Amino acid sequence: MKTIGRGAEATLYLTTLKGKRVVTKKRLQKKYRHPLLDARLRKSRTRREERVLQRLNEKGVSAPRFIDAKGTQIVFSLEKGVAAKNARLSNAILGEIGKQLALMHDAGVAHGDFTTSNILVEGGKAKIIDFGLSSFTQSVEDFATDLVLFEKTVAPQEFAVFLKAYAKRKKNPRAVLARFREIKQRGRYVER
Ligand SMILES: Nc1ncnc2c1ncn2[C@@H]1O[C@H](COP(=O)(O)OP(=O)(O)O)[C@@H](O)[C@H]1O
Ligand SMILES: [Mg+2]
Repeated sequence: MKTIGRGAEATLYLTTLKGKRVVTKKRLQKKYRHPLLDARLRKSRTRREERVLQRLNEKGVSAPRFIDAKGTQIVFSLEKGVAAKNARLSNAILGEIGKQLALMHDAGVAHGDFTTSNILVEGGKAKIIDFGLSSFTQSVEDFATDLVLFEKTVAPQEFAVFLKAYAKRKKNPRAVLARFREIKQRGRYVER
């Protein structure tokens, strides 16, 4: 099996299903965790990723297409593109990322690990990936936390373009933006 990706948690393989090339993501055992706890965590994150992908597919958010899941393995569509952290991010792409995050939040999902490692870019398109830490939520704090983390992974000018697009697409963005600023204020207070 060909390995196509390795993250902090999982290894991704290029596999075939009914003659089509797809991706199988396997969450690997972590020796530093208690075996029972580890098994439970890997299964619950896989299940989470399954449910989130189904919701995002249904709502038309740009993400891989869910195909199948069992235990600690999940199968989804193979996507082209490179991780956003290794790509030059044009304003158009940054706008697209902002739009997709807004759609995701309006679908009632916070990403939980929204960094440039978990976005694939290709042509003018951005796909959001990696939903093991996502949650079904309407919490303004959870949504603002996605913005705070993303800001840490891009340049200030890039973040500004992204945020403008996010605010334009998000339904009732004001509460999330206010919380985002508030979280940053809290951070400043702690740093002193
Ligand atoms: N649907 C996909 N198509 C192609 N490559 C993918 C896909 N999903 C993930 N990858 C690649 O695998 C890497 C790790 O996947 P990810 O889901 O982020 O795993 P982890 O949870 O371990 O971080 C990604 O950074 C990306 O390069
Ligand atoms: Mg990842």
